[in-house]
Amino acid sequence: MAQAFKRKRYVLVGTGNRGTTMWGHDLLAGWSDYVDLVGICDLNLMRAERARDIIGSNAPLYGNFDSMMAELKPDLVIVCTPDDTHDDIIIRALEAGADVISEKPMTTTPEKIDRIRDTERRTGRRVDVSFNYRFSPTAARIKELIDDGAIGTVTSVDFHWYLDNQHGADYFRRWHAFTERSGSLFVHKATHHFDLLNWYLDSDPVEVKGFGQLLHYGKNGPFRGERCRTCTHKTECDYYLDLGADPFLDTLYEDPSQIDGYFRDACVYRENIDIPDTMTASIKYASGVQVSYSLNTYMPIEGHHIAFNGHKGRIEMRQYEKQPWSEPPADEILLVKSFGGGVERIWVPHEAGGHYGGDNRMRDMIFKPGSNDRLRQRAGSRAGAMSVLCGIAALESATKGGSVMVKQLT
Ligand SMILES: NC(=O)c1ccc[n+]([C@@H]2O[C@H](COP(=O)([O-])OP(=O)(O)OC[C@H]3O[C@@H](n4cnc5c(N)ncnc54)[C@H](O)[C@@H]3O)[C@@H](O)[C@H]2O)c1
Repeated sequence: MAQAFKRKRYVLVGTGNRGTTMWGHDLLAGWSDYVDLVGICDLNLMRAERARDIIGSNAPLYGNFDSMMAELKPDLVIVCTPDDTHDDIIIRALEAGADVISEKPMTTTPEKIDRIRDTERRTGRRVDVSFNYRFSPTAARIKELIDDGAIGTVTSVDFHWYLDNQHGADYFRRWHAFTERSGSLFVHKATHHFDLLNWYLDSDPVEVKGFGQLLHYGKNGPFRGERCRTCTHKTECDYYLDLGADPFLDTLYEDPSQIDGYFRDACVYRENIDIPDTMTASIKYASGVQVSYSLNTYMPIEGHHIAFNGHKGRIEMRQYEKQPWSEPPADEILLVKSFGGGVERIWVPHEAGGHYGGDNRMRDMIFKPGSNDRLRQRAGSRAGAMSVLCGIAALESATKGGSVMVKQLT
């Protein structure tokens, strides 16, 4: 059946971990009936070459994006570069006549959002944003329950996300640690969470009050070095990372760092880190829903709590991916009905692959012709924009005080 469709000729831009796996090796492993990787681009050609080996492709390598576009004229560009570079690549791709899949966050500033949205309108091409969290089986089930009115009108949400001291620390080792590059974790990471909220609630955030402080990493560290590999505090540092013990990361980042100075194990205690590591936000939605949100980045657990409170009950879930005690896999949603209606325990099985199967479901939705998007999971540039704007509002509020009206940002 699939052979009847013309395969999309795509190019990959950015050959770090995400590009190499999700949109390189894994995409070709599962969806090669639908897509053909025809070019690979990275400013660092040594990393690109190593990525190409891992992907198992013989696509040509390019250091120059525009030359690649001119020579290959692909149907689709998949953007997996650092967040602050997405806008230029997306815009040049659209102008060259290609559709785009952008990794999240779509971009980092209101001006960049406007440029992307204007170019998309002008060229008539399409931008998808890879909001894979929408596709996890539990998220899909919660969305169904809300849409079906299981708890009546939702009036408020409690949403708390915990990054453990491996995953959380990883953001402080790299470019993510600088607001200019990532928009801070209110944008880089919380874009997923704000997008989930916007999608679950089918509404836009209008007003945000945020707090954010750097209380653990950066200048708070007891000592520091440039990077773990050369550090004199290896034996005493809780965050020592032995890159050599991870052959995948070592291959992709260590030797290529000689070219661009991009160390995968930079010190989490660098003095110049300027993003908060401890964040909270109160968000008011156009629909009137009030949200209480938090993001912590140095926890002994990894996962999240979410609860939707409505006139007729409450939906809640605690989904821990890692915790230092044993408990059954966390994929149970509790539907608690008001007025003595009891509790329904809804068991949602995990599926194979990243994000409990969400990554695979998203690639099916985007690439398999005729997919049924009944839950409106496929996300475009508007969703990309609204989730980023919510994060920018939270950071601005945290930095300057007061609350920020999202509308005033654009
Ligand atoms: N959806 C998810 O769950 C998820 C998970 C991880 C990462 N991501 C996103 O994927 C993107 C990439 O993340 P990563 O961890 O692989 O980053 P990375 O830093 O490991 O890799 C980025 C690559 O882009 C290259 N690059 C930088 N500027 C470039 C340019 N102008 N043109 C071409 N190449 C350029 C770098 O040399 C590097 O090889 C980020 O936007 C990140 O937010 C999403």
